[in-house]
Amino acid sequence: MKPLLRALAGETLPVPPVWMMRQAGRYLPEYRATRERAGGFLDLCYNPDLAAEVTLQPIRRYGFDAAILFADILLVPQALGAELWFETGEGPRLSPVATPGALAALRPPGAVHDTLAPIYETVRILARALPPDVALIGFAGAPWTVATYLIAGRGTPDQAPAHALKATDRALFEAILERIEGATVEYLSAQAEAGAEVVKLFDSWAGALEGEEFDRYCLAPLRRITAALRARHPGLPVIAFPRGAGARYAGAHAATGAQAIALDDGVSPEWAAAEVQTGGCVQGNLPSRLLVEGGQALVEETRRVVRAFSGGPHIFNLGHGITPDADPDNVHRMLEAIRG
Ligand code: CP3
Repeated sequence: MKPLLRALAGETLPVPPVWMMRQAGRYLPEYRATRERAGGFLDLCYNPDLAAEVTLQPIRRYGFDAAILFADILLVPQALGAELWFETGEGPRLSPVATPGALAALRPPGAVHDTLAPIYETVRILARALPPDVALIGFAGAPWTVATYLIAGRGTPDQAPAHALKATDRALFEAILERIEGATVEYLSAQAEAGAEVVKLFDSWAGALEGEEFDRYCLAPLRRITAALRARHPGLPVIAFPRGAGARYAGAHAATGAQAIALDDGVSPEWAAAEVQTGGCVQGNLPSRLLVEGGQALVEETRRVVRAFSGGPHIFNLGHGITPDADPDNVHRMLEAIRG
């Protein structure tokens, strides 16, 4: 079995499997060249040959244990009917959905496949092209995180528009999350059918949910999506990433049903080994700034993460995506510190 799948099945490996969030990205010159050829970021996402090419670039350069499908979490709201575009240097823009009329104009969950068909083709190409030991990870955004973009029509530092809608019209807010949840099950299920061996749910703004709302809008949707996927694809491992969960990472395996919990670098690896890894496989959690800074701190912190999680199932990763200003050579230094 592939090392990543062994770790997800609960095995403690002598050397953890490793991959990086945003491993295909702007820090790599070959990625920037292919994106240029594609035209723009979304053109790249919807071009199966070029999307497969950028997915494979970091595998060739570094020999990671997993490839993550090249796409974006905002393709799901786009497939539901929202307009999506990227403003250079500013990030994503969507036509906002924050009124009953705008929600009514969206497509039903089962209708997302027309728009997303090229993504499934990328998965099929990758399933054929990947080296035999490399696992293929599909992904989607979790409902709350996707909703924060769809309701605001853009990224926001504090998710204020989504919080405001939740406060003023909870039924509409919940109906928007429900539509995204249904589409997410459809989308991930189609990725699994096309050859994704693992799926990851990104709840990047989970940390902005407080109290009972963390359970209701983060953990419960993750649990329902995981259950629905495993009913359709028995044995499909799920990685859940409730970023910013802090102390609420404890118990997250049981609360979500996911086979692995991805950790951001807001929790220490020693704490997470004692409080989270006892529930199952964990993924994480080297601070991504160390791939910019490099030096002895990179080597020491990498070894610290490996050591802290060496007593149980672990997938080495960063706490968040690698940034465009990271030095590609530092990734080799990190791998050397993991694999020796
Ligand atoms: O991890 C991977 O390499 C797989 C591909 C992937 C991308 N985005 C590619 C991408 C994944 C898993 C994502 C997830 C994603 N997208 C999230 C959740 C994870 C997280 O980072 O918290 C979010 C919030 C988005 C929405 C999004 N897409 C944002 C906020 C941005 C940044 C805009 C910018 O200009 O910096 C993107 C664009 C994006 N998605 C890029 C990549 C490689 C950069 C696009 C480019 O080439 O300019």
